[in-house]
Amino acid sequence: MDNNFYITTPIYYVNDKPHIGHAYTTVLADVLTRFNRSLGADAFFLTGTDEHGQKVEKAAKEHNITPQQQCDETVIRFKELWDKLEITHDKFIRTTDDAHKAVVCQVLQDLFDRDLIYKAEYKGHYCVPCERFFTDKDFENGTLCPECKRETNEIVESNYFFRMSQYQEWLIDYINTNPEFIQPSFRANETLGFLKKPLGDLCISRPKERLAWGIELPFDADYVCYVWFDALINYISGIGYGSDDAQFNQRWPASYHLIGKDILTTHTVYWPTMLKAMGVEMPKTIFAHGWWLVGRDKMSKSLGNVVNPMDMAEEYGVDAFRYFLMAEMSLGQDASFTEEAFTRRYNSDLANDLGNMLSRTVKMIMRQCEWIIPTPGPATEAEAELTAAVEQAIEKMAESLHGMKLEQGIESIMNAVRACNRYMEKTAPWTLAKKGETERLNTVMYNAADAMWKVSVLMEPVMPGKMAELRDALGIEQSDVGIADLSNAANCLTGNKVKDNGSLFQRIVVEDKAKTLQQEKQAQQQAKQAAKAKQKKAQKASSTVTGLITIDDFFKTELKTAKVIDAEKVEGADKLLKLQIDVGGEARQLIAGIAQSYTPEAIIGKTVVVVANLKPAKIRGVESQGMLLAAKGSDGLKIITVDGYVDSGVSVG
Ligand code: MSP
Repeated sequence: MDNNFYITTPIYYVNDKPHIGHAYTTVLADVLTRFNRSLGADAFFLTGTDEHGQKVEKAAKEHNITPQQQCDETVIRFKELWDKLEITHDKFIRTTDDAHKAVVCQVLQDLFDRDLIYKAEYKGHYCVPCERFFTDKDFENGTLCPECKRETNEIVESNYFFRMSQYQEWLIDYINTNPEFIQPSFRANETLGFLKKPLGDLCISRPKERLAWGIELPFDADYVCYVWFDALINYISGIGYGSDDAQFNQRWPASYHLIGKDILTTHTVYWPTMLKAMGVEMPKTIFAHGWWLVGRDKMSKSLGNVVNPMDMAEEYGVDAFRYFLMAEMSLGQDASFTEEAFTRRYNSDLANDLGNMLSRTVKMIMRQCEWIIPTPGPATEAEAELTAAVEQAIEKMAESLHGMKLEQGIESIMNAVRACNRYMEKTAPWTLAKKGETERLNTVMYNAADAMWKVSVLMEPVMPGKMAELRDALGIEQSDVGIADLSNAANCLTGNKVKDNGSLFQRIVVEDKAKTLQQEKQAQQQAKQAAKAKQKKAQKASSTVTGLITIDDFFKTELKTAKVIDAEKVEGADKLLKLQIDVGGEARQLIAGIAQSYTPEAIIGKTVVVVANLKPAKIRGVESQGMLLAAKGSDGLKIITVDGYVDSGVSVG
């Protein structure tokens, strides 16, 4: 078995302080690393900062400091946050490190010597925030940035190019024959969609007169390297490529490059073609996760809704914050961050289920067993059920890791915790104590403590601090037992003295929040009633003809443009297609009855119109979050699209 596990996060720009998006990917990588280690893998976790390029140079100018100072000051914020969030990376790489710069120069020189990099005149459109060049073929209509939809600037200059185009066919074939390469699979389709257009060569230089902050090209001192070409190389320079062959050969290929969905093309097109040109093996999986939204909106500075991870960790504790991030997001999909959802999960899972179970166990042992975890007697059916629940959690956890369904693994651990609580109810140790059935009482208390200990080992990767506290309450000083050892673990608790450390998770009091929510609800209801009355009045005045609606009625239906990212047939239903759509950055799934008029391939990439505020419904057991508009022509259905290029998520009406 391949015992090597190498995981990376994107390296983060140092133009601003870290936000929840950065915290999420880094916690995710940390949790996956810890799980794999606990299952016996030799794991290596790389993260770091992307310090060159225009964004950083611009931020430095705004702050009146040098770019290097900008990097040095901001990198501290990232490192502080990772310390606070209990991130255990094995290496933190900065692209301004000399060792990294040397590898980038080595790669550039090698590709230049082999004529895989050449110089040519270039005309293109540049997007400053994305630091990306686009040519005419990248635009559907107008010259707005295809990534962030902001205005681009036209630029003509001499530059160096990487012969990326020559790898197009190879890449398409590689993606098609390696289904694990880009995950989730709908992201592979997105990349294949991108590769339907001819792939150009990649401009990998910037003239110093326009941008000085970068790695100087080893073969032309008038230019610096394009920030993405420099940054992607961190994944190999960070583990010894070009300097420490033994380490590199041991770690590479990466098991996972974790990325956000917005940086898919750079990772699934630029990076593989760069590696191919270098003659380096492909990473095993590039995994794109979704975004944290606030309600339904994208998090952004201009909307003022950015969640500060440092504040969350301060207010609710690091472990609870890590738990929420991991349990709430279905890997690959977008998730919504609200304090309400946080409180709900915290109180029900952590305070009620987990904290309560530990506190019952410890208190009973204190009172009935003189603080000492007793020797168990023979097991009964109740113990067998409890053991089965813990075993199932162990199995499901490992399974969920392989399928990158982490939230399901975590849920299976919580199911084991719930089984522990049921075990207590069923065996009722307080009654056993009253009746003086000491041997049975000892069996129950031992098994309860044992199950809690196993839960602590299972949950350790997600909440390392709190799980150490849990073990401390059970008198376990330190533990080097991993998940891999759990099923065969011998009794190691009998004789331990428990400790009364207070609650593991203090309930969050929601009274005040509930009050405000109720007031908000009342105000909303009043506004609704007033609007209804107004509408009725208007209806009466405007029309006596039945079937006519007012403009207010019409605007109750939220019509929006959406881009179809992926489509597939719904098994067993010849009329239905399952679509993955993007509605202004929000990923949704929609079931449409158009399969007899459209193949999945024919609809992918189209901009369609959807009813965005329709209550989600299950169609043939599959959730549909909205409705697609189509007209019924004599020769089948015709979907409603827009005339020319329009962003997704734009209101129609
Ligand atoms: N420097 C590049 C990556 C180079 S990797 C060779 C970069 N940096 S970034 O700081 O802008 O973003 C890093 C990551 O944060 C991206 O993966 C992005 O998807 C993620 N997030 C930014 N906002 C996010 C959310 N609201 N939610 C989840 N992740 C999001 O891109």
